[in-house]
Amino acid sequence: MRGLVVLVTLACFANAQHQALIDYLERRLLAIEDRISLWHEETTRYASELRELKQQMVSQLDNLDKEKEILRTNLDSVGTRVDRVERELDYLETQNGAQPCVDVDDKLIEQQVSLVKEKQKAKYSKLSDCSDMLSSIKAMKIVKRVGGPKGMWTKDISRGSGKVFIFNGTDKDTIIQFTSVQDFARSLNMSASRNLKLPSAWRGTGHIVYNNHAFYINQADEITVIKYDLKNSSVTDSVVFPVQDHVPVYGLSPETMMDLAVDEEGLWAIYATRENENYMSLAKMDARSLDIEAMWDTNCPRENAEAAFVVCGTLYVVYNTMQPGRSRVQCVFDVNGMVTNEEAPQIYFPKRYGAHSSLKYNPQEQLLYAWDDGYQILYKLSMKKKLEI
Ligand SMILES: *[C@@H]1O[C@H](CO)[C@@H](O)[C@H](O)[C@H]1NC(C)=O
Ligand SMILES: *[C@@H]1O[C@H](CO)[C@@H](O)[C@H](O)[C@H]1NC(C)=O
Ligand SMILES: *[C@@H]1O[C@H](CO)[C@@H](O)[C@H](O)[C@H]1NC(C)=O
Repeated sequence: MRGLVVLVTLACFANAQHQALIDYLERRLLAIEDRISLWHEETTRYASELRELKQQMVSQLDNLDKEKEILRTNLDSVGTRVDRVERELDYLETQNGAQPCVDVDDKLIEQQVSLVKEKQKAKYSKLSDCSDMLSSIKAMKIVKRVGGPKGMWTKDISRGSGKVFIFNGTDKDTIIQFTSVQDFARSLNMSASRNLKLPSAWRGTGHIVYNNHAFYINQADEITVIKYDLKNSSVTDSVVFPVQDHVPVYGLSPETMMDLAVDEEGLWAIYATRENENYMSLAKMDARSLDIEAMWDTNCPRENAEAAFVVCGTLYVVYNTMQPGRSRVQCVFDVNGMVTNEEAPQIYFPKRYGAHSSLKYNPQEQLLYAWDDGYQILYKLSMKKKLEI
């Protein structure tokens, strides 16, 4: 009997212990559940905070992108400016490198000059007493960039006009006129300009504006020079250039069959024919009647030629060089025979954007109006006296 009591007590004890364990476990579970729900709340909060943070980051990244873009445009424009400065430095370098070191007695030069002048007068009494030759490029200025890769710009070569004309492209019929180089340089849009529609399309870049007339080249089977009065917008004259089988005058400019030039002596035509197709020919024209006064076959090759111009009766042909970004006067032809290739100056043109598609000399200003891959550039020339060797 006593044994049974002990057993029941033991069982009760075990039971109570068991209950306590269960209670304990339950409390723990509840506590864990509480903490789980707490964590859950916190996680949701973190998640939403993270979302907000992400949104903030995204918008800040957007801003950063925009700022990066602005920075890039700024850098681009700085790049362009550095490029220009570099170009001008390049140019100065070539100029400094190219100056020949000549040491001649001034008196001797003067004597020779007067001698040459006398001879020249005797031989070429028809021409003026122009006896200058090119000595170097003194300065350059990039005026603007308004055009396509190829084109021509020039000031009207006549006293007192000052108007500037832009032939954008090689086969259009509308030229753009500005009242001055300053107006052209300052105009932000083309509002300061006037469009002039010509009666027919031009071809190439060989045109010229001289004494209020545009002389432009039009070509179908034959080459026609059209003289157009800019004052009353009418064709004054139109002639077929009397030469058979033309070929493009410059090897690097297939659109330009013939190039017109004006110098101290008047109007010139630079051209090439199949008959003498490796070299250029030169003709002196009468600007009033468009008659041809004289013709010469020159020793200047067409191959690798970019453009040419005439100064004081001498043809200067500019060629592409092996050095990138440089072109150079490499052939001259003087109709008076006084400037030869040996004594011709080493003249380099800086050229970063492509070939020069036209170089137009203005004898009143001694400036070259150049078109280089859409850039309108001015080169200031310096002159010296021609000396007979
Ligand atoms: C010049 O022509 C080019 C196309 O060859 C064109 O993009 C550009 O706007 C033209 N410029 C002007 C000033 O008309
Ligand atoms: C061009 O610029 C002038 C000011 O230089 C301004 O008055 C004119 O509204 C501009 N035209 C266009 C089409 O942007
Ligand atoms: C234009 O002007 C010139 C002289 O300046 C004159 O010879 C010509 O006949 C004029 N043409 C027309 C169509 O008025």
